[in-house]
Amino acid sequence: MKLKLCLLIAVLTASFLRSSAQEINLSQGWKFKIGDSTAWSSPQYNDNGWQAADVSKPWEEQGYAKTDGFGWYRVRVEIPSSIKEKAFIKDSLHFNLGYLDDGGEVYLNGKLVYKNYKTGSDIQHGIYGPGSFSVAANNPAINWDKENVLAVRVFDTGGAGGVYGDKFDIKMVDLMDNVNINTDGSFYYEEKTMSKSIRLTASGGSYNYVGKLYFKVTDPETDTIIYQKTNDAHFAAHSPFTYTFTLARLEKKSYKITYTFTDEHSGKQITKTEGAPYILTPYVKAKPRINGPDVFGERPANPFLYKIPATGQKPLTYKADGLPAGLTLNTTTGIITGIVSDKGDYPVTFTVTNSLGSNTKKFTIKIGDLIGLTPALGWNSWNAWGLTVNDQKVRTSANAMADKLSAHGWSYINIDDGWEAASRNTNGEIVTNSKFPDMKGLTDYVHNLGLRMGIYSSPGPKTCGGYLGSWQHEDQDAKTYGDWGIDYLKYDWCSYSQVSPQNPTLEDFKKPYQVMRASLDKVHRDILFSFCQYGMGDVWNWGAEVGGNSWRTTGDIEDTWKSMSTIGFSQDKTADGAKPGHFNDPDMLVIGKVGWGDHQHNTRLTPDEQYTHISLWSLLSAPLLIGCDMGHLDSFTLNLLTNDEVLAIDQDALGRAARQTFKNDTYQVWTKDLEDGSKAMGIFNTSDKYQTIKLNKAETGFNGYTKVRDVWQQKYVITSGPEFVTKVPPHGVILIKVSK
Ligand code: GLA
Repeated sequence: MKLKLCLLIAVLTASFLRSSAQEINLSQGWKFKIGDSTAWSSPQYNDNGWQAADVSKPWEEQGYAKTDGFGWYRVRVEIPSSIKEKAFIKDSLHFNLGYLDDGGEVYLNGKLVYKNYKTGSDIQHGIYGPGSFSVAANNPAINWDKENVLAVRVFDTGGAGGVYGDKFDIKMVDLMDNVNINTDGSFYYEEKTMSKSIRLTASGGSYNYVGKLYFKVTDPETDTIIYQKTNDAHFAAHSPFTYTFTLARLEKKSYKITYTFTDEHSGKQITKTEGAPYILTPYVKAKPRINGPDVFGERPANPFLYKIPATGQKPLTYKADGLPAGLTLNTTTGIITGIVSDKGDYPVTFTVTNSLGSNTKKFTIKIGDLIGLTPALGWNSWNAWGLTVNDQKVRTSANAMADKLSAHGWSYINIDDGWEAASRNTNGEIVTNSKFPDMKGLTDYVHNLGLRMGIYSSPGPKTCGGYLGSWQHEDQDAKTYGDWGIDYLKYDWCSYSQVSPQNPTLEDFKKPYQVMRASLDKVHRDILFSFCQYGMGDVWNWGAEVGGNSWRTTGDIEDTWKSMSTIGFSQDKTADGAKPGHFNDPDMLVIGKVGWGDHQHNTRLTPDEQYTHISLWSLLSAPLLIGCDMGHLDSFTLNLLTNDEVLAIDQDALGRAARQTFKNDTYQVWTKDLEDGSKAMGIFNTSDKYQTIKLNKAETGFNGYTKVRDVWQQKYVITSGPEFVTKVPPHGVILIKVSK
């Protein structure tokens, strides 16, 4: 193992951290060692020779780039009893240790006090689980007013790993730590109003919370309060308080809503804010409109499936002139199926008609070597359901996609990790676990809706979730996928580190993908190949050559501004990798209800951050893979996913990725060349204040482009003079298309 020892050796002067504040900071003083030994949990163990660890970042980013397996972190800390004395309730101590990724165990003075995985010794199942837990204040493991040794055993496979995060501290659990202002309900829209219910809940204890809930709506542009109201509120464990409000429908702008509960007896307060969603996408018209990309590719002699995406009042009748021999169109569903044997570019004209009129679109069917000519538009189970995905959840998602999204071009239903059985059958074939009783039946169901089906595996022996991978069974697995009718494979590096050389070369990075590419090529089916190896070896420079249709360029996304914006705004370096059939994948969408398991919450991105997310990913020509519970799509989320002019930017046939054409501390401009000679431009406000942004037209690429269209609102914008001036909300965007 090649460790950058010199960088990591630091002399720690303080033997443990002291603090008199209510919060004991734990972000400093950590030590680290790769390996595994039960002795390392002991407070007596001498860790003097260990390296200093920076817990603000994963171990990959501190000189342990190619290290997978176990590692231990240790820190010494005094826990003063004064923090207990000062606390209003004195029940328990809370530890914030960022993430324990992929899974971890925490020992306090040699005693196991927490693990973030569920069963047995399968520590990998924690999957970047939180390192946040409580220990009863009377637990004898705590050495009050003395030195304590915290030792963390953590397992890492693939991608970011270790103990890392923003928040490292110890504090007494406060009265308000047990309170949750639950804003996970949806906003309901009437013609002129919108309403929502929120709940105040207590997670435990016998305390009766009695006090006031202050509700405030602020205009973030001017910081003025536009509505406020105070209500009595009382709740306790098992008896929540619900507050329902109705507001005038606030168009074209997100207002800030603040909920503050003050407990009368203790005087303690808790506050939560959220942005009110606002709809920009115009209502779908009753007249027919054909949406979706201008091109679609399939290989000769392989099964063909394309549903003409079209909106308009039903029933719609479909027509396709010029279809190549071998294809037939179902004129009531718009689904084209069949097999084309000859290579070639086939120009086709689609017409969709209803009682109000008809719409025509020129389209090219390209039968050749390349598939996935435009980025995949679909759904993936991971950000919503994590390892709890099952047949029913997939069917629910497929139904929702067919009902609400396929008319706009959405087509993939992708099952991520968690479908695989614990062992192969006697022939060595991969089989499903009990959550997926009939994969072929499920795939047929999805295909009958005109949609496509995706699946997930790893080139290693195990997937990231600890399920079976394809290691040494690649041909067999590719064949099984083909037999089931799979159309998309996400292939996740994960435990491949265990079988690849310690310090992989570029060839080592490519190898597992070349092996599976060859296996997929033996199957008579077009299976889109999506690499998931977090960008290692700058995959955007060679993903296409190895036969990838897309490749992840980063670690896993989370539903926070920090995660989404850090990933999205760092993609300039990958831009040249994008071309028709080959796209950079900055990871899946984090809008709607997400949760990576059975407990879903509304995305923590504000409405404006969500506009930024969809706009930026479309500019980047990224696969758009919805990661939410599709059974609960609210109007706002649906509006984000059904703007045909925004989707057209993502699906543009030129297949270029946007470049960062301007950046300062408070805003950025990203520009993407489009097939018709126009350009799409995102003007992103990266600050947390409203901004009036003035772009010098000559310097920002407006030259010669006289027409400016606001893509979300689908309206032309009047602009004259040498500057383009626009107001952009905090963390928000103006997405425009400029043309001649
Ligand atoms: C990795 C990937 C995720 C997901 C999980 C499944 O973390 O990056 O997108 O596929 O594995 O275990």
